[in-house]
Amino acid sequence: MANAPLAPITIRFITPEQTYPLRHAVLWPDKPFDYVKVENDSEGYHFGAFLADELVAVISLFVDGETARFRKFAAHPDCQRRGIGTQLLNQVIHEARRLGATSLWCDARLDAADFYRRFGMDAVSEVFYKGPIPYAKFSRTLL
Ligand SMILES: CC(C)(COP(=O)(O)OP(=O)(O)OC[C@H]1O[C@@H](n2cnc3c(N)ncnc32)[C@H](O)[C@@H]1OP(=O)(O)O)[C@@H](O)C(=O)NCCC(=O)NCCS
Repeated sequence: MANAPLAPITIRFITPEQTYPLRHAVLWPDKPFDYVKVENDSEGYHFGAFLADELVAVISLFVDGETARFRKFAAHPDCQRRGIGTQLLNQVIHEARRLGATSLWCDARLDAADFYRRFGMDAVSEVFYKGPIPYAKFSRTLL
């Protein structure tokens, strides 16, 4: 069952550097901090969900022509399953369309596959691993 909703959140553009603590703490806590930096972070659009003034979830969008990709999607454990990720991903879909993308993909942790299916995304690759974690490429059209 979903957790109780939190107070209203606001979604804002943030810098790549602002995403790093949540990327690290939620996604790759056992890796060195620099592991969560993406080579082309400076070319991305980074969104943060704020609860009051606290940054509680992040996602990063990269657009290459008509193809958009999101990466490093992470919500603070205390704030998961309260609708914040849904708001962030909807924002990313909106922004990707606005920027002219016609498809959207991500490397999805299989743990989160059912979440992505809610957004019309489906597996388009075999399962692969990053360290011990199973992933598949998930994709959808934005048309
Ligand atoms: C995946 C994640 C970003 C989703 O954000 P969130 O704020 O928890 O998601 P929401 O609350 O908007 O979820 C919407 C619905 O999907 C469900 N859901 C959320 N995460 C899910 C998951 N991993 N698997 C299946 N369903 C999930 C929620 O229960 C909710 O269902 P409901 O509407 O019936 O209540 C967040 O849970 C997270 O950071 N997880 C750990 C890191 C991770 O796996 N990141 C993705 C890497 S590819």
